[in-house]
Amino acid sequence: MTTENKRKIWTAPEIVETYLAFFRERGHLEIPGSPLVVPDGTTLFVVAGMQPLMPYLRGQVAPPAPRLTDLQRCLRTDDIDAVGTNGRKLTSFHMLGNWSIGDYTRREAIALALDLLDCFGVERSSLWVTTFAGEPSLGLARDEVAVEEWRRVGMPESRIVPLEMDDNFWSTGGPGPCGPDSEIFVDRGEAVGCGKPECRPGCSCERFLEIWNLVFSEFEQRPDGGYEPLPIRSVDTGMGLERVAAVMQGVLSVYETDLFAPALRRLRELAPSGISDGASETRAVRMILDHTRTALLAGLAGVTPGRDGRGSVVRRLIRRAARQGYVLGLRQPFLGELVAPLVAGHGTLLTPRERERALEIARTLGDEERRFARVLATGLREVERIRPDDDGTVAGERLFVLHAERGFPADLAAEVLAERGITVRWPEYERAFAEHRAISRVGTGAQSQTA
Ligand code: ALA
Repeated sequence: MTTENKRKIWTAPEIVETYLAFFRERGHLEIPGSPLVVPDGTTLFVVAGMQPLMPYLRGQVAPPAPRLTDLQRCLRTDDIDAVGTNGRKLTSFHMLGNWSIGDYTRREAIALALDLLDCFGVERSSLWVTTFAGEPSLGLARDEVAVEEWRRVGMPESRIVPLEMDDNFWSTGGPGPCGPDSEIFVDRGEAVGCGKPECRPGCSCERFLEIWNLVFSEFEQRPDGGYEPLPIRSVDTGMGLERVAAVMQGVLSVYETDLFAPALRRLRELAPSGISDGASETRAVRMILDHTRTALLAGLAGVTPGRDGRGSVVRRLIRRAARQGYVLGLRQPFLGELVAPLVAGHGTLLTPRERERALEIARTLGDEERRFARVLATGLREVERIRPDDDGTVAGERLFVLHAERGFPADLAAEVLAERGITVRWPEYERAFAEHRAISRVGTGAQSQTA
C-alpha cells in the first residue's frame, strides 16, 4: 500500500482503468461489457456481470481465455423500494468483474482481491468479510475453505463473519450458475453506524459497506429451485463501481461521488427553496438521481418509455422521479436538465457517441415527464384526499379507480400513501381489476356475436 495511493482521490474512470489493468497484468483477458439489453435473456436487462458469461460458467462454451475481466452496466429493479432509503442502493450500476473459468479458486481470488484493494489504498484494517454458513436442509456445506483462506492472509477471526443462505449464497434468483460467496465490506466507522452492539456486515445501517462479492460458482440452480454441481468450478466476482468510488473518494453515499456530483449540484440549483437534509428530501434527491441515470443508461441501450416490458420499467422510473420532484418543490418538468450533468459526471465511462445521444434522451425524458405532468398533478391531489380506515389501510379498489379514470399508476399512489403510513389492501385491487377484465370480455364477446 503506497502512501501516495492512500492520499489520492480516485475518479470513477481511474478506478475502472486501474481495476482492468490490474487484472490484465495478471493474465486476465479484458472483454467488452455486454449491452444492457439482452435480446433473448431471461431478464429484461443485464442484472449481473456474470450474466453474459453464463455459457462459459456452465461449461457449455469454451471461453476466449480462462481468466476474464470487464466492466458491465447492470440494471436491477427488484428492490427499487429500497432506493433512496440508504446511500448505497441503486437500480443501475457499473459492475467491475474478474472471472476464473475453471482456473483459479478461492485462494487466488482472495489474494488478488486483497492486492488490488492495497493498490487502491483501502486500509486492510477497515476490511471485514463474510462467508457462507451452509444450509444443511439443501445439502449445501459451510464454506470452511473460504474461512481458512481469509485466515491465511491474516484476516482476524473477529472480522470473518459467516452468514446464511440469503446473504452468502449468490444466484441470479432463477436458473443459472450460482454458489457460496464471500463478500468484502469496508467499515466506515462507528460514527456512521446504528450503534447496536450486534452491528456488523449484514446490518442495514451505513457502517459496513459491501464493495466486492466473490462468488464460488459451483452449482447450477435448476428451474425447480434445486442445485446440482457444475462440470467446472469457477470464480465470478463483482465490485460495485459506485460503492468503491464512495469509499475511495471519502464520501458516505454513492450520490456524492464524481458520477453524480454535477447532477446533484444541478438539482440543488433547480429546487426553488433549496434542499434540506431531512429524510424525505434526502430520499427524494437519491431517487431522482438514481432513476434519471437509469433511464439515461436504458435510453442509451435503445429503450424508450412505453407500456410494456423494458419500456414500462423506464416509464415507471421517470414517473417515480417526477413525483419525487414534488417533494423538493419542483412543479415543472426538470428531469431532462439532469442529463447533461450526469453525462459530465460519467466522463469516459460513456463513449463519445453515447455523449452525443444523451441530448436526444434528455428530450425523451422531458417529453415523457411533460405528458405525465397533468396526470401527476391531479392524481396527487386525489391521493391526498384518501383517508385510511381505522386500521391504517385503504381499499385497493380506490387505487384501481384512480388508475382507470385518471391514469394515475397504482404503484405510485401506493408509494405516496406509504409515505403517510397507509398501506393498501391489494386483494381488493386485484378483485376490482378482475371484475373490470370480466366486463371488458363480455363486451368483446357481445361485439363478436354481432359481427
Ligand atoms: N455475480 C455476483 C454479483 O452480481 C458477483 O454480485
